[in-house]
Formats: sequence, C-alpha cells, structure tokens
Amino acid sequence: MKLQNVIYCGDNLAWMRQVPDGFIDLCYIDPPFFSNKHYEVIFNDGEEIRSFEDRWKGNIYHYIEWMKDRIFEIHRLLKDTGSFYLHCDWHAGHYLKVMCDEIFGINNFQNEIIWCYQIGGKSKRRFGRKHDTIFIYTKSDNYFFNINDIKIPRKPGTHMKIAKDANGRIYQEKTDRKTGKIYKYYIDEGKIPDDFWLDIQQLNREARERLGYPTQKPESLLERIIKASSNEGDLVFDPFCGCGTTLVVAQRLKRNWLGIDVSPTACKLMKRRLAKVGVAGVEIFGLPLDINELKALKPFEFQNWVIGSLGGTLSDKKSADMGIDGYSFMERDPIQVKQQEHMGRVEVDKFETALRRVGKSKGIMVAFSYTKGAYEEVARAKDHNGLEITLMTVAQVRQQLL
Ligand SMILES: C[S@@+](CC[C@H](N)C(=O)[O-])C[C@H]1O[C@@H](n2cnc3c(N)ncnc32)[C@H](O)[C@@H]1O
Repeated sequence: MKLQNVIYCGDNLAWMRQVPDGFIDLCYIDPPFFSNKHYEVIFNDGEEIRSFEDRWKGNIYHYIEWMKDRIFEIHRLLKDTGSFYLHCDWHAGHYLKVMCDEIFGINNFQNEIIWCYQIGGKSKRRFGRKHDTIFIYTKSDNYFFNINDIKIPRKPGTHMKIAKDANGRIYQEKTDRKTGKIYKYYIDEGKIPDDFWLDIQQLNREARERLGYPTQKPESLLERIIKASSNEGDLVFDPFCGCGTTLVVAQRLKRNWLGIDVSPTACKLMKRRLAKVGVAGVEIFGLPLDINELKALKPFEFQNWVIGSLGGTLSDKKSADMGIDGYSFMERDPIQVKQQEHMGRVEVDKFETALRRVGKSKGIMVAFSYTKGAYEEVARAKDHNGLEITLMTVAQVRQQLL
C-alpha cells in the first residue's frame, strides 16, 4: 500500500487500522466539531456541491468515543518523535483534551493554542465566541520544535526598556526583580509566538485562497504548524483533510503528505488543488464505484458522482430546484439523477415538464433501475411530444468509467 503523497477516500478509521505502526512525523486533524450544523454550499460556478456533515445523532459521549478510536490509531501511527495537532472548539474541546491526555499521557501535552479571529456573527446574550483551540501533543519527550522557522517580528512598545548596543542593534531589556538578572531581546531576532494567535486571519469571503469548502482553514495556519513540528522530507498526515489545505502546504514546504477524507467530492477537489501547486496526477484510492457503495452515498455526493462521471456540469441551485440536476458535456442536455431503484412513470412525467420549462427536447435520467411504466412513458413522450428522454442505469454510467 502506498503510504505517501496519495489521497485515500473512505473512513479514516478503517484505513488506519490496516497500516503499520510508527511512520508518521506530524499529524494535524480538523475533525467534525460536534457543532450540530450541516454545512452545504452550492457553488456559483455550478460545478460542485461541497458539503460536510457535522451532526451527531447520539450525544457528546458518542462523539468522544468515535474520536477516541481514531486518536488511538493516530497515536499508534506516529513515530516516537512525532507530534499531533488537534483542532477543535468550545463544543467538545474540553472532552477531547481529557481523552487525549489519556491516550498520549498528560506529560506529552505541549500546548493549547487559542486561535483568535474576527469573522462570523455574535450573540447579544454572551461574549463573542471568536476562537478555535488547537491541542498539541507529542508521542514522547524527544520531538522537534523548529523555533527558528516560526519566529514572528518582536514588536517594540511593550513595558520593556528599548536600547541600542555598540553595533547599533536595537534590543528590549528586562531586569528580574528578584535575582537582578538582565534579559536582552534583540528586535531583529524575532520571537517565538505565544500560545494565543492573533496574527492569522480566518478566510473571509474575499480571500483569494478560498475554494468554498465550508470549513477550509487558512494556509498560513498550517504553515506555522508544519514548520514548527516537521522537517523537509518528513511525512505529514491529515486523516480529515477536507479540501486539502494541509496537503498543499506540506507540498509547498517540501514535506511528503498523506490525506484521507470520506467525501469523494473533497478528494477530487484536493486533487485539483494539488495539481495547481504542481503535483500532477495524484492518485486517489478508494473512490466508491461499487453499486452498493453508490447506494450508500449521501444524495449530493451521488449526484456529484453521476454528473462528474458523465463529464457533465452540475446545475446551479435554481435549475436544481426545477428538477434539473446537471447538463451533459457537449450538448448540454438536462440530466436528472435519482438515487433509487424502480424509477417510475410519474418521475418521467415530471422530467418532461422540466424539459419543456427550459425549452429542451432531449434529456437524460439516471437511476438504479426503471419500471416498465417509465419506459412506456418515454415512448409516449417521444410519439406525442417529440421529447427524447434517455433512461440510463447507474450500472451503465459506472461501465463507462471502467
Ligand atoms: C472540518 S473538515 C476539514 C477541513 C480541512 N481542514 C480544510 O482546510 O479543508 C472535516 C473533514 O472530515 C471529513 N470526515 C468526516 N468524517 C470522516 C471520516 N470518518 N473519515 C475521513 N474523513 C472524514 C469530512 O468529509 C470533512 O471534509
């Protein structure tokens, strides 16, 4: 099994359970936050529906158990010198911290980073919730922390005295009242960031790197993390990698990378994003193709898969609401996708109305199977209304890809 510079599509737990111990240098995760939200964005480029489900039918303990299985595997996969960054927020952060202390050992807890930002709304009933939390653990006491690669400018203007040395270099000076010892901090040497980060902005609507993936994190955040806790040539692992921010930053910083996401849409998006930073032909293993796996996909993922497999374009929201899910590649004939068996006469009838509404005489329907009535209705629509509707099965779509 290839263990670097590839993407795996599927549940990260199942994947992690198959691989050997101790080969990862750095693991960053930004998992679902137990926020009970359903993020779904339909893109104005009409190409993709990108979504991420963060809903838990059980309670917080169910979520923590779910996470515990995964963090247990991450701990196993890390090298003894490896580091683990867990990105979370107020929803479940405290529960996750206690659980990670158990797995990593409380002595291997290194930091609780408070990443502050401004975007998003505020309630009038409490203080603004404007930070995420990133817990940092190491597998042992023998870990990397590359202070010279992450220094930030030291700002003059604090309570410390400012002075210049014989060579003209400016420094800040502080005297320890108890011991009388003098500490000098040269401005041009910068400083190690503290554990509250105010200097990394969340992606706003206008941000150039924004791809529209609802929970996309800024590259500058990953840059600090990867520089601090890995070296060139190391392997950086993100088993909840979304639109691939960790992977592209790792690539840019000359690290190897390995990504997993359960969403085929996210995996394909990552592949395109990596291609833009010069990594052509990235392999994605595990994309669902088997009929049962296709049946189990979420409806929008299924829709993306069908339209993508036909080389078509997804509809914008307005057309989708009118019963057209996408358009074929060359002719731009409307496509309607149904994730069901035995699609019948009534559905064909509705699609005829949708075709007439957009002034088209040809269209494609895709479902797992059709009733006799559906085929009869297609024949009737042709004879009486001159409409040419093709009923394609999912098996036929799949066959085109093999
Ligand atoms: C918060 S997003 C990560 C965003 C990412 N940091 C970025 O910058 O794009 C969490 C991701 O975890 C994925 N995910 C959820 N459960 C998963 C599982 N069991 N295995 C693999 N990926 C999963 C979701 O599909 C989603 O893309």
